[in-house]
Amino acid sequence: MWFGRLSRCPVLLGRAQSTLSQLRGILEGELQSIREAGTWKSERIITSKQGAHITVQGKHTGILNFCANNYLGLSSHPEVVRAGHEALEEYGAGLSSVRFICGTQNIHKRLEEKIARFHQREDAILYISCFDANAGIFEAMLTPEDAVLSDELNHASIIDGIRLCKANKYRYKHMDMGDLEAKLKEAQKHRLRVIATDGVFSMDGDIAPLREICDLAKRHNALVFVDECHATGFVGPNGRGTDELLGVMDQVTIVNSTLGKALGGAAGGYTTGPKPLIDLLRQRSRPYLFSNTLPPAVVGCAAKALDLLMENNAILQSVAAKTARFRTKMTAAGFTISGKDHPICPVMLGDARLASVMADDMLEKGV
Ligand SMILES: Cc1ncc(COP(=O)(O)O)c(C=O)c1O
Repeated sequence: MWFGRLSRCPVLLGRAQSTLSQLRGILEGELQSIREAGTWKSERIITSKQGAHITVQGKHTGILNFCANNYLGLSSHPEVVRAGHEALEEYGAGLSSVRFICGTQNIHKRLEEKIARFHQREDAILYISCFDANAGIFEAMLTPEDAVLSDELNHASIIDGIRLCKANKYRYKHMDMGDLEAKLKEAQKHRLRVIATDGVFSMDGDIAPLREICDLAKRHNALVFVDECHATGFVGPNGRGTDELLGVMDQVTIVNSTLGKALGGAAGGYTTGPKPLIDLLRQRSRPYLFSNTLPPAVVGCAAKALDLLMENNAILQSVAAKTARFRTKMTAAGFTISGKDHPICPVMLGDARLASVMADDMLEKGV
């Protein structure tokens, strides 16, 4: 109706068109500046399942794929895929609802229990992504009386989650314990202090010094929150994560992580930690309350991935051996690989444009 009236009014129609062309001009300018900076992100289209060998649209088949967070190769694992099919058959495509209205099935509750058991925490809550888990936790948990201390290189979703909350914000230099301690001292005036860090930083694969962070937290009465997206399933002796690797599982209060990388790679995220926190998130966390339930097929895949991991850690050992081999051979060939031990092995060329050109050339060579 509104459009009907607008289309009959030439003055309003003309104004709307000129505003639209103004928007187009602004957007084109922005796009051009991204192209000129050499940071344009183009998406390669894969026409096969995710895996070590993939097909890329066009002429490329059997491409050797080094570019995914499919750390354990479970994204296309036959048992994981079968579990997804079974859940789809039994529970349908989706709930057409948010969790608290009419969207919780027994498989969602079972997966939450399994996640809590895996991480040895009291309870867990599922989200449609870890981005949402990070976006929803700080605002629900912290008030203007509290403080959050965040590593400057934390993932964008942690930064956004912190932006949304009303707590006092402190940003410490990347993995700089001196700076964190100074900020903790400054933050003593607040009721609660939460230190927020990635367990593994995804750009360089560097591992947060969680032992030192937990020591500082103890000394300055703070809680520790860790995003384990690049650790869950494959870091630590049993794949529990950075906190297991560094022996501080009992000192990290809250873990957020994803089902969209090592744990089947479909989608989904979660928070695991103290039961009253999880209870509060079910009442207050906006991405949980106002977004659809995780689809049953995704739940089925993730639950099976966790079963496989809890049954034995052979897959885990295989990724560690492959990582060591890749790092050793690439270093011997003269490349600089940043990070240490982690399967994120960034080959540092020191120039974004060159990296992009080299990636295109490698694709021509089948890598
Ligand atoms: C450290 C970190 N946190 C959170 C996320 C978001 O996870 P999800 O893909 O489940 O939204 C990512 C994904 O790239 C990540 O790397």
